[in-house]
Amino acid sequence: MPKVVRVAVLVSGGGSNLQALLDAQKAGQLPEAEIVLVVSSRAGVQALERAKNFGVPSLVLEPRQFADDETFQKTLEAELVKARTDVVCLAGYLRKLGTNLISRYRGKILNIHPALLPKFGGPGMYGHRVHEAVLAAGEKESGCTVHIVDEEFDHGPVLAQTRVPVMPGDTADQLAARILEEEHRLYPGVLRKFTENL
Ligand code: GRF
Repeated sequence: MPKVVRVAVLVSGGGSNLQALLDAQKAGQLPEAEIVLVVSSRAGVQALERAKNFGVPSLVLEPRQFADDETFQKTLEAELVKARTDVVCLAGYLRKLGTNLISRYRGKILNIHPALLPKFGGPGMYGHRVHEAVLAAGEKESGCTVHIVDEEFDHGPVLAQTRVPVMPGDTADQLAARILEEEHRLYPGVLRKFTENL
């Protein structure tokens, strides 16, 4: 009998990567995984609509609602445990995870980043800033990376990357869109392999 790996997806915004994971699950492309919870660090974002439309339980945990980061992280961790989460996927999640949470799920937290790590990652390297930095550096290619999360931003072991060319005259928007398309292919494929090998 196939096992079921319970996956929680953490989001902060549009959630197009969440959608790609949900679509893959629906299409039977994640045979060993089930997305059981979506947690957003922001209220009112499109990712929450996507979860609702799919019928996946979701909740909003906004850091500012909590007295301090420790309480926030403890609450997040408790919710993940309550949902019997095995694997956590960060999909556009903008908060840094606490050390206790990372320790509890050591090696089982994945993140997708819109560049070829270790280049163009780290604190402050998110959203358009990444693509602007790539263009400013005159890179000929960029891409996306799925990696295991550790205590440092955009740092843990790389599981897979997809490369895309940087075209002459590219704007950050154009480059972002080219990469995002690949993210939607890469993340479900990596999650599939990851859960199959657990
Ligand atoms: C993606 O580019 C992802 O690589 C980065 O944040 C963005 C999230 O986009 N970590 P979306 O919310 O999945 O549409």
